[in-house]
Amino acid sequence: MFVSRPVGVAALCSLVALLGCEPKQPLEPKVEPKTPPKTTTNAPAAVDADTILLGEVGSLTGSEATFGLSTKNGVQFALDEVNAAGGIVVDGKAKKVAVRVYDDQGKSEEAANAVSRLINQDKVVVILGEVASSNSLAMAPKAQAAQVPMVTPSSTNPKVTEVGDYIFRVCFIDPFQGTVMSKFALDTVKVKKVAILKDNKSDYSLGLSQYFVDHFTKNGGTIVAEEAYSKGDTDFRGQLTAIKGKKPQAIYVPGYYTDVGVVARQAKELGLAVPLLGGDGWESEKLFELGGSAIDGSYFSNHYSTDDPTPRVQNFIKSYEAKYGSKPDSLGALGYDAAMVAMEAIRRAGSTNGPKIRDELAKTKDHPGIAGTITLDDKRNAVKPAVILQVKDGKSVYVATVNP
Ligand code: PHE
Repeated sequence: MFVSRPVGVAALCSLVALLGCEPKQPLEPKVEPKTPPKTTTNAPAAVDADTILLGEVGSLTGSEATFGLSTKNGVQFALDEVNAAGGIVVDGKAKKVAVRVYDDQGKSEEAANAVSRLINQDKVVVILGEVASSNSLAMAPKAQAAQVPMVTPSSTNPKVTEVGDYIFRVCFIDPFQGTVMSKFALDTVKVKKVAILKDNKSDYSLGLSQYFVDHFTKNGGTIVAEEAYSKGDTDFRGQLTAIKGKKPQAIYVPGYYTDVGVVARQAKELGLAVPLLGGDGWESEKLFELGGSAIDGSYFSNHYSTDDPTPRVQNFIKSYEAKYGSKPDSLGALGYDAAMVAMEAIRRAGSTNGPKIRDELAKTKDHPGIAGTITLDDKRNAVKPAVILQVKDGKSVYVATVNP
């Protein structure tokens, strides 16, 4: 006879008793060993006393892989620069800096596991990451509880740094980013009727669409349709058909590049010939591959542009390209900035003590970053301009800078 519900230990015991034999070992539910998160080789397995170890969590594989890979390159670039200049003096001794990186495959549960491992096992002194706000939100409470400062290079949802005083970011936040695109839509694209297509599973997408809607509707615009999908969906035709029926002049899609690329293609197939508008989540070379000509002419807000003529920025772009074979996207720039800000704080603290590094991070002011100058406000957020980029012939072109 088969029992469809799980067999309890008590039931098993009585079964064993009935059969007249004793189990050799107590019957316990089998616990599968947790597979450790994948590590990459940036840091030696054992770190000696002369090395300061940082931790990083990112999506090195999966549908947001370019987010993690670019960030990792940017972070490593910063470490190489600091190490080449002699490292950082802590407790009166010059030490090298290394980073241990775990791949979370773009999944929040994996990000949470990885951060626990970095804190408890690797004993890192600072955590860098994540990119996606939902993943940073899964990590932040653990960093906060352990008093290990966490610096997210690029998570823009306000809730991330609200977790506590150990959580910092070197980028702007979404209430600003949403306003930037709403203003641009009204004043420059000159559209008054916009549809929204958002990712219901992403804190980033939900927040950003709401900030856009708030500003847009308060300033004379109308939202004619609001549709949603879930990360990983591949068929958006139902939502797009509903949107088409409402005749929008543009569609705001604050999602990540893989989904947005497919959305653009399917919108074009359905004859929806209006520009798409988006946020920093569009930032990836892959967007152009996936979206093809369907994404051409669309606009998105971002943290920096490779067209920025500032010598510091152009020098960074040149040496990054020489090292990695492609120009840094905004994640490469922000990864570099986050690592630099963190290492500066360690240098000023002269210590790897969490509370001391935290205090120095909080004082970050006028730091010359690649994606803008970084001054952290009392909520541990950077206040700095955004840029608007337009997709043209398989690349993004600088259109405007918007100050806070
Ligand atoms: N801001 C996005 C988020 O919070 C992440 C992101 C930043 C993606 C920059 C691309 C570029 O989820």
